[in-house]
Amino acid sequence: MTQKLVKISSVGHYVPDHVLSNHDLEKMVDTNDEWIRTRTGIIERRILKDPKKATAFMSAEAGKEALENAGVSPEELDAIIVATVTPDYLFPATACLVQKTIGAENAYGFDLSAACSGFIYALSTGSMMIESGRYKKVLVIGADKMSSIIDYTDRTTCIIFGDAAGAVLLEPSEDETGIIDFVQHTEGDQDNFLFQEAGGSLNPASLETVKNKQHFIKQDGRTVFRRATEGMADVSLEIMEKNQLEADDIAWLVPHQANKRIIDATARRMGLSEEKVMINIQKYGNTTAATIPLCLYDWKDRLSHGDKLILSAFGGGFTWGAAYLTWSLKS
Ligand code: UT7
Repeated sequence: MTQKLVKISSVGHYVPDHVLSNHDLEKMVDTNDEWIRTRTGIIERRILKDPKKATAFMSAEAGKEALENAGVSPEELDAIIVATVTPDYLFPATACLVQKTIGAENAYGFDLSAACSGFIYALSTGSMMIESGRYKKVLVIGADKMSSIIDYTDRTTCIIFGDAAGAVLLEPSEDETGIIDFVQHTEGDQDNFLFQEAGGSLNPASLETVKNKQHFIKQDGRTVFRRATEGMADVSLEIMEKNQLEADDIAWLVPHQANKRIIDATARRMGLSEEKVMINIQKYGNTTAATIPLCLYDWKDRLSHGDKLILSAFGGGFTWGAAYLTWSLKS
């Protein structure tokens, strides 16, 4: 091996306490528990209720936990990357707020916007920063307060999303395990199948944009579903082929949690049985950039050193991608 690998050396998370169940949603919009469960796999999701707290708060909590689990002090960090589409502000970046909150006084930070693929894009960015030899400790966070951009009168979107954060610490690997490969794609969504129309420089906030509900997420569910099902399976197979992996080689698929039917279709195309697929969508819904690190957190005690993992996501942009890594932590 010529290239030294980068490892995930710890995992952290944050989920708000407040639970919004399917039954709660039945009282808010014309929907029902049965429809939501069978069409999406979701039973409940978490919502950050405190109006004074947002994505930076959840990111800092997840980041602090990752640092504590690694026994690394905040001053040792070189960089912080926050993948999010719900930053506290358009600027300063959420990563700047996290840097201050956790006391990472020697780190620089920036946000990365790639919607549901944000964590994979940020993982690859952080990993390459360490591979370059320039940095040693990079905190990669995926976090979204989706409730801040959801219209709770729109049954086609409000049932799907939740709030959460997940974080991983990246460091140079000391053995043969670590992050091995990435495949990433973008295809500009000119038709706006999945987007937030206002609040940016094209449609700045105005009375009109608020009245027209243009600050909420809009999605053509069927089109996104079709594209996500193809994209996540295609990119997962692409990374398997590129690395000569058979289904039997893979210990776990860590899929973005957008819809259980999309996850099942991806696993089927990869030839994986359900026992090898991390699924926690029933508890959290779609938390956008947080889904994959949240899975890693929930499964961390079941992972063994050397396990081969495929991470895979599809989201707005359109963006999609996969990562192949071998698990570095010892169980
Ligand atoms: O993470 C980023 C990427 N996002 C995704 O990957 C999400 C992709 N899309 C999806 O997961 C699914 O498209 C949804 C869960 C959003 C919707 O499921 P679907 O099976 O595609 O439903 P649909 O939009 O085709 O609608 C089927 C029916 C419609 O009624 P008619 O026209 O057949 O009478 C909808 O009006 O279900 C109706 N419907 C609902 N019924 C009860 C739509 N939303 C609801 C609802 N409760 N919440």
